[in-house]
Amino acid sequence: MNQTDDQATVRSSGSSQADNNPPPEIAVVGSANLDLVVEVPRVPLVGETVLGKDLARIPGGKGANQAVAAARLGRSVAMIGRVGDDEGGRMLRTALQADGVDTSHLTTTPDTPNGVALIAVGADGDNSIVVSPGANGRLSVADVEAAADVLGAAAVTLVQLESPIDAVLAAAESAGGVVVLNPAPAPSSPLPAKLLEAVDVIVPNQTELALLTGHGGTVDVAVAADLATQLPTPTVVVTLGALGALAVVEGTANHIAAPVVDPVDSTAAGDSFCGALADALVRKEPIVDAVRWAVRVGAATTLRAGAQPSLPSPAEVTSLLGEDRDED
Ligand code: RIB
Repeated sequence: MNQTDDQATVRSSGSSQADNNPPPEIAVVGSANLDLVVEVPRVPLVGETVLGKDLARIPGGKGANQAVAAARLGRSVAMIGRVGDDEGGRMLRTALQADGVDTSHLTTTPDTPNGVALIAVGADGDNSIVVSPGANGRLSVADVEAAADVLGAAAVTLVQLESPIDAVLAAAESAGGVVVLNPAPAPSSPLPAKLLEAVDVIVPNQTELALLTGHGGTVDVAVAADLATQLPTPTVVVTLGALGALAVVEGTANHIAAPVVDPVDSTAAGDSFCGALADALVRKEPIVDAVRWAVRVGAATTLRAGAQPSLPSPAEVTSLLGEDRDED
Protein backbone atom coordinates (compact mmCIF):
# COMPACT_ATOMS: atom_id res chain seq x y z
CA MET A 1 0.00 0.00 0.00
CA ASN A 2 1.65 3.21 -1.16
CA GLN A 3 -1.07 5.69 -0.49
CA THR A 4 -0.10 9.32 -1.09
CA ASP A 5 -1.08 12.19 1.18
CA ASP A 6 -1.97 14.70 -1.51
CA GLN A 7 -5.44 13.37 -2.27
CA ALA A 8 -7.77 15.69 -4.12
CA THR A 9 -11.14 16.40 -2.59
CA VAL A 10 -12.73 18.29 -5.47
CA ARG A 11 -14.40 16.61 -8.43
CA SER A 12 -12.95 17.52 -11.80
CA SER A 13 -15.12 19.57 -14.13
CA GLY A 14 -15.40 16.85 -16.74
CA SER A 15 -14.05 17.00 -20.26
CA SER A 16 -10.40 17.51 -19.50
CA GLN A 17 -8.23 18.24 -16.53
CA ALA A 18 -6.26 21.45 -16.73
CA ASP A 19 -2.61 21.14 -15.70
CA ASN A 20 -3.07 22.90 -12.38
CA ASN A 21 -6.27 21.13 -11.34
CA PRO A 22 -5.87 18.83 -8.33
CA PRO A 23 -5.19 15.18 -9.22
CA PRO A 24 -8.15 12.78 -9.15
CA GLU A 25 -8.78 10.70 -6.06
CA ILE A 26 -9.37 7.61 -8.21
CA ALA A 27 -7.78 6.55 -11.51
CA VAL A 28 -9.51 3.86 -13.57
CA VAL A 29 -7.55 2.06 -16.28
CA GLY A 30 -10.02 0.06 -18.31
CA SER A 31 -12.69 -0.44 -20.91
CA ALA A 32 -15.63 1.56 -22.21
CA ASN A 33 -18.25 -0.40 -24.13
CA LEU A 34 -21.44 0.39 -25.93
CA ASP A 35 -23.87 -2.11 -24.40
CA LEU A 36 -26.46 -3.49 -26.84
CA VAL A 37 -29.07 -4.87 -24.47
CA VAL A 38 -32.14 -7.01 -25.05
CA GLU A 39 -34.46 -8.07 -22.25
CA VAL A 40 -35.49 -11.70 -22.74
CA PRO A 41 -37.81 -14.05 -20.84
CA ARG A 42 -34.74 -16.13 -20.04
CA VAL A 43 -31.10 -16.13 -21.16
CA PRO A 44 -30.86 -18.51 -24.16
CA LEU A 45 -29.12 -21.89 -23.91
CA VAL A 46 -26.42 -22.83 -26.42
CA GLY A 47 -28.01 -23.14 -29.87
CA GLU A 48 -31.31 -21.63 -28.72
CA THR A 49 -33.04 -18.50 -30.06
CA VAL A 50 -35.35 -16.47 -27.84
CA LEU A 51 -37.43 -13.43 -28.73
CA GLY A 52 -36.86 -10.34 -26.61
CA LYS A 53 -37.89 -6.71 -26.25
CA ASP A 54 -36.59 -3.71 -28.24
CA LEU A 55 -32.83 -3.18 -28.40
CA ALA A 56 -31.41 -0.62 -25.94
CA ARG A 57 -28.04 1.14 -26.45
CA ILE A 58 -26.52 1.91 -23.06
CA PRO A 59 -23.09 3.16 -21.93
CA GLY A 60 -21.16 0.38 -20.23
CA GLY A 61 -17.80 -1.39 -20.04
CA LYS A 62 -16.25 -2.49 -16.77
CA GLY A 63 -13.76 0.37 -16.59
CA ALA A 64 -16.22 3.12 -17.49
CA ASN A 65 -18.86 1.64 -15.18
CA GLN A 66 -16.42 1.63 -12.26
CA ALA A 67 -15.38 5.21 -13.03
CA VAL A 68 -18.98 6.43 -13.15
CA ALA A 69 -19.90 4.43 -10.05
CA ALA A 70 -17.17 6.13 -8.01
CA ALA A 71 -18.00 9.57 -9.46
CA ARG A 72 -21.69 9.20 -8.52
CA LEU A 73 -20.60 8.41 -4.97
CA GLY A 74 -18.82 11.76 -4.87
CA ARG A 75 -15.23 10.97 -5.80
CA SER A 76 -13.06 12.77 -8.36
CA VAL A 77 -12.18 10.23 -11.05
CA ALA A 78 -9.96 10.06 -14.15
CA MET A 79 -10.45 7.41 -16.83
CA ILE A 80 -7.50 6.04 -18.80
CA GLY A 81 -8.62 4.04 -21.81
CA ARG A 82 -9.53 4.06 -25.48
CA VAL A 83 -12.78 4.63 -27.30
CA GLY A 84 -13.60 4.07 -30.94
CA ASP A 85 -13.80 6.64 -33.69
CA ASP A 86 -17.55 6.14 -34.04
CA GLU A 87 -20.91 6.93 -32.52
CA GLY A 88 -20.30 4.44 -29.67
CA GLY A 89 -17.02 6.12 -28.78
CA ARG A 90 -18.60 9.57 -28.75
CA MET A 91 -21.48 8.29 -26.62
CA LEU A 92 -19.11 6.75 -24.06
CA ARG A 93 -16.97 9.88 -23.80
CA THR A 94 -20.06 12.08 -23.38
CA ALA A 95 -21.47 9.76 -20.72
CA LEU A 96 -18.26 9.86 -18.68
CA GLN A 97 -18.04 13.64 -18.94
CA ALA A 98 -21.69 14.01 -17.89
CA ASP A 99 -20.72 12.34 -14.60
CA GLY A 100 -17.71 14.60 -14.14
CA VAL A 101 -15.11 11.96 -15.01
CA ASP A 102 -11.85 13.42 -16.36
CA THR A 103 -11.38 12.07 -19.88
CA SER A 104 -8.01 13.74 -20.64
CA HIS A 105 -6.46 10.28 -20.95
CA LEU A 106 -9.33 8.67 -22.87
CA THR A 107 -7.94 8.38 -26.40
CA THR A 108 -10.07 8.19 -29.52
CA THR A 109 -8.58 5.51 -31.77
CA PRO A 110 -8.78 6.34 -35.51
CA ASP A 111 -10.45 3.83 -37.83
CA THR A 112 -11.33 1.55 -34.93
CA PRO A 113 -14.77 0.61 -33.65
CA ASN A 114 -15.69 1.18 -30.05
CA GLY A 115 -15.92 -1.80 -27.71
CA VAL A 116 -19.36 -3.38 -27.83
CA ALA A 117 -21.08 -5.73 -25.38
CA LEU A 118 -24.01 -7.87 -26.54
CA ILE A 119 -26.13 -8.44 -23.44
CA ALA A 120 -29.21 -10.59 -22.88
CA VAL A 121 -30.97 -9.83 -19.58
CA GLY A 122 -33.37 -12.49 -18.29
CA ALA A 123 -36.53 -11.88 -16.27
CA ASP A 124 -34.72 -12.91 -13.08
CA GLY A 125 -32.12 -10.16 -13.61
CA ASP A 126 -29.37 -12.55 -14.66
CA ASN A 127 -27.47 -11.88 -17.85
CA SER A 128 -25.23 -13.29 -20.54
CA ILE A 129 -22.59 -11.03 -22.13
CA VAL A 130 -20.37 -11.24 -25.22
CA VAL A 131 -17.77 -8.46 -25.58
CA SER A 132 -16.05 -7.26 -28.77
CA PRO A 133 -13.14 -5.22 -27.35
CA GLY A 134 -12.65 -2.89 -30.34
CA ALA A 135 -10.64 0.16 -29.25
CA ASN A 136 -10.24 -1.22 -25.71
CA GLY A 137 -7.92 -3.84 -27.19
CA ARG A 138 -5.59 -1.08 -28.44
CA LEU A 139 -4.84 0.33 -24.97
CA SER A 140 -1.03 0.33 -24.75
CA VAL A 141 1.73 0.62 -22.19
CA ALA A 142 2.52 3.99 -23.80
CA ASP A 143 -1.05 5.14 -23.05
CA VAL A 144 -0.55 4.19 -19.42
CA GLU A 145 2.86 5.90 -19.29
CA ALA A 146 1.26 9.07 -20.67
CA ALA A 147 -1.02 9.08 -17.61
CA ALA A 148 1.84 8.64 -15.13
CA ASP A 149 1.00 11.91 -13.35
CA VAL A 150 -2.59 10.80 -12.71
CA LEU A 151 -1.61 7.26 -11.69
CA GLY A 152 1.14 8.52 -9.43
CA ALA A 153 -1.14 10.89 -7.54
CA ALA A 154 -4.45 8.99 -7.30
CA ALA A 155 -5.23 7.55 -3.87
CA VAL A 156 -6.78 4.46 -5.51
CA THR A 157 -6.25 2.94 -8.96
CA LEU A 158 -8.83 0.49 -10.30
CA VAL A 159 -7.97 -2.02 -13.03
CA GLN A 160 -9.91 -4.88 -14.65
CA LEU A 161 -9.22 -7.44 -17.40
CA GLU A 162 -11.11 -6.05 -20.41
CA SER A 163 -7.86 -4.32 -21.45
CA PRO A 164 -4.55 -5.80 -22.71
CA ILE A 165 -2.70 -7.41 -19.82
CA ASP A 166 0.57 -5.52 -20.40
CA ALA A 167 -1.28 -2.21 -20.03
CA VAL A 168 -3.01 -3.47 -16.88
CA LEU A 169 0.36 -4.54 -15.43
CA ALA A 170 1.95 -1.19 -16.32
CA ALA A 171 -0.90 0.61 -14.56
CA ALA A 172 -0.61 -1.51 -11.42
CA GLU A 173 3.16 -1.05 -11.29
CA SER A 174 3.11 2.71 -11.79
CA ALA A 175 0.22 3.51 -9.43
CA GLY A 176 1.22 5.54 -6.38
CA GLY A 177 -1.78 4.65 -4.22
CA VAL A 178 -3.81 1.57 -3.41
CA VAL A 179 -4.20 -0.73 -6.44
CA VAL A 180 -7.50 -2.63 -6.74
CA LEU A 181 -7.73 -5.39 -9.38
CA ASN A 182 -11.13 -6.71 -10.44
CA PRO A 183 -10.07 -9.83 -12.42
CA ALA A 184 -13.09 -9.72 -14.72
CA PRO A 185 -13.86 -11.10 -17.17
CA ALA A 186 -12.38 -14.32 -15.80
CA PRO A 187 -8.86 -14.75 -17.20
CA SER A 188 -8.39 -17.58 -19.70
CA SER A 189 -4.74 -18.02 -18.72
CA PRO A 190 -2.88 -17.52 -15.42
CA LEU A 191 -2.27 -13.89 -14.50
CA PRO A 192 1.37 -12.75 -14.37
CA ALA A 193 2.75 -13.18 -10.85
CA LYS A 194 4.07 -9.60 -11.13
CA LEU A 195 0.51 -8.33 -11.48
CA LEU A 196 -0.77 -10.15 -8.40
CA GLU A 197 2.23 -8.86 -6.45
CA ALA A 198 1.67 -5.26 -7.57
CA VAL A 199 -1.95 -5.31 -6.41
CA ASP A 200 -3.07 -4.38 -2.89
CA VAL A 201 -6.71 -5.54 -3.11
CA ILE A 202 -8.13 -8.14 -5.53
CA VAL A 203 -11.90 -8.43 -6.05
CA PRO A 204 -12.84 -11.71 -7.79
CA ASN A 205 -16.23 -13.39 -7.85
CA GLN A 206 -16.39 -17.08 -6.91
CA THR A 207 -15.71 -18.30 -10.46
CA GLU A 208 -12.81 -15.91 -10.99
CA LEU A 209 -11.31 -16.91 -7.64
CA ALA A 210 -11.54 -20.59 -8.57
CA LEU A 211 -9.76 -19.91 -11.86
CA LEU A 212 -7.07 -17.74 -10.29
CA THR A 213 -6.21 -20.45 -7.78
CA GLY A 214 -6.27 -23.29 -10.33
CA HIS A 215 -9.32 -24.84 -8.66
CA GLY A 216 -11.64 -24.41 -11.66
CA GLY A 217 -15.43 -24.36 -11.80
CA THR A 218 -17.05 -22.34 -9.06
CA VAL A 219 -16.79 -22.66 -5.28
CA ASP A 220 -19.00 -22.27 -2.24
CA VAL A 221 -18.39 -19.67 0.46
CA ALA A 222 -16.33 -21.90 2.75
CA VAL A 223 -14.03 -23.02 -0.08
CA ALA A 224 -13.78 -19.43 -1.33
CA ALA A 225 -12.56 -18.29 2.09
CA ASP A 226 -9.89 -20.98 1.98
CA LEU A 227 -8.83 -20.33 -1.64
CA ALA A 228 -8.59 -16.58 -1.02
CA THR A 229 -5.73 -17.21 1.39
CA GLN A 230 -3.75 -18.81 -1.46
CA LEU A 231 -3.45 -15.57 -3.41
CA PRO A 232 -0.35 -13.41 -2.82
CA THR A 233 -2.46 -10.24 -2.64
CA PRO A 234 -2.71 -8.91 0.95
CA THR A 235 -6.45 -8.25 0.80
CA VAL A 236 -8.89 -10.45 -1.12
CA VAL A 237 -12.54 -9.42 -1.42
CA VAL A 238 -14.70 -12.17 -2.91
CA THR A 239 -18.07 -11.09 -4.26
CA LEU A 240 -20.82 -13.65 -3.60
CA GLY A 241 -23.83 -12.18 -5.45
CA ALA A 242 -26.95 -12.36 -3.30
CA LEU A 243 -24.87 -13.72 -0.41
CA GLY A 244 -22.82 -10.52 -0.12
CA ALA A 245 -19.02 -10.68 0.03
CA LEU A 246 -16.04 -12.06 1.91
CA ALA A 247 -13.26 -9.76 3.07
CA VAL A 248 -10.14 -11.86 3.59
CA VAL A 249 -7.24 -9.97 5.15
CA GLU A 250 -4.03 -11.83 5.95
CA GLY A 251 -5.85 -15.13 6.20
CA THR A 252 -8.83 -13.99 8.27
CA ALA A 253 -12.20 -14.02 6.52
CA ASN A 254 -15.18 -11.82 7.38
CA HIS A 255 -18.54 -12.50 5.71
CA ILE A 256 -20.64 -9.45 4.96
CA ALA A 257 -24.23 -10.38 4.07
CA ALA A 258 -26.21 -8.53 1.40
CA PRO A 259 -29.59 -6.86 1.79
CA VAL A 260 -32.38 -9.02 0.37
CA VAL A 261 -33.46 -7.56 -2.98
CA ASP A 262 -35.58 -8.60 -5.95
CA PRO A 263 -33.14 -7.89 -8.79
CA VAL A 264 -34.21 -6.33 -12.07
CA ASP A 265 -30.82 -6.46 -13.82
CA SER A 266 -27.48 -7.50 -12.32
CA THR A 267 -25.43 -5.82 -15.08
CA ALA A 268 -22.69 -3.61 -13.54
CA ALA A 269 -23.43 -4.73 -9.96
CA GLY A 270 -19.83 -5.99 -9.70
CA ASP A 271 -18.59 -2.72 -11.19
CA SER A 272 -20.50 -0.57 -8.74
CA PHE A 273 -19.17 -2.80 -5.95
CA CYS A 274 -15.61 -1.98 -7.08
CA GLY A 275 -16.38 1.73 -7.49
CA ALA A 276 -17.87 1.84 -4.00
CA LEU A 277 -14.95 -0.06 -2.53
CA ALA A 278 -12.58 2.50 -4.07
CA ASP A 279 -14.77 5.32 -2.74
CA ALA A 280 -14.56 3.91 0.78
CA LEU A 281 -10.81 3.31 0.53
CA VAL A 282 -10.28 6.94 -0.49
CA ARG A 283 -12.26 7.88 2.64
CA LYS A 284 -9.91 5.56 4.60
CA GLU A 285 -12.71 3.30 5.84
CA PRO A 286 -11.54 0.02 7.45
CA ILE A 287 -11.78 -2.81 4.92
CA VAL A 288 -14.81 -4.53 6.47
CA ASP A 289 -16.75 -1.26 6.52
CA ALA A 290 -15.62 -0.56 2.95
CA VAL A 291 -16.90 -3.98 1.84
CA ARG A 292 -20.20 -3.44 3.67
CA TRP A 293 -20.69 -0.20 1.73
CA ALA A 294 -19.72 -1.90 -1.54
CA VAL A 295 -22.23 -4.71 -0.91
CA ARG A 296 -25.02 -2.16 -0.43
CA VAL A 297 -24.09 -0.19 -3.54
CA GLY A 298 -23.88 -3.41 -5.58
CA ALA A 299 -27.30 -4.54 -4.32
CA ALA A 300 -28.86 -1.16 -5.12
CA THR A 301 -27.44 -1.38 -8.64
CA THR A 302 -29.42 -4.56 -9.34
CA LEU A 303 -32.70 -2.71 -8.78
CA ARG A 304 -32.53 -0.68 -12.00
CA ALA A 305 -31.93 -1.68 -15.63
CA GLY A 306 -28.77 -1.08 -17.64
CA ALA A 307 -25.13 -0.57 -16.71
CA GLN A 308 -24.42 3.11 -16.13
CA PRO A 309 -28.10 4.16 -15.74
CA SER A 310 -28.35 1.83 -12.73
CA LEU A 311 -25.36 3.22 -10.79
CA PRO A 312 -26.63 4.97 -7.64
CA SER A 313 -25.71 8.08 -5.67
CA PRO A 314 -25.44 7.67 -1.87
CA ALA A 315 -28.96 9.10 -1.48
CA GLU A 316 -30.30 6.60 -4.00
CA VAL A 317 -28.66 3.70 -2.15
CA THR A 318 -30.68 4.72 0.91
CA SER A 319 -33.91 5.31 -1.01
CA LEU A 320 -33.58 1.95 -2.82
CA LEU A 321 -32.53 -0.15 0.20
CA GLY A 322 -33.55 1.80 3.29
CA GLU A 323 -31.20 2.84 6.06
CA ASP A 324 -28.02 0.85 6.58
CA ARG A 325 -28.09 -1.92 9.16
CA ASP A 326 -25.91 -4.92 9.76
CA GLU A 327 -27.41 -7.69 7.57
CA ASP A 328 -25.70 -10.51 9.48
O1 RIB B 1 -19.73 -5.55 -15.93
C1 RIB B 1 -20.73 -5.17 -16.83
C2 RIB B 1 -20.13 -4.77 -18.12
O2 RIB B 1 -19.49 -5.87 -18.70
C3 RIB B 1 -21.13 -4.30 -19.16
O3 RIB B 1 -21.41 -2.93 -19.07
C4 RIB B 1 -20.46 -4.71 -20.46
O4 RIB B 1 -20.00 -3.64 -21.20
C5 RIB B 1 -19.33 -5.63 -20.06
O5 RIB B 1 -18.12 -5.03 -20.19
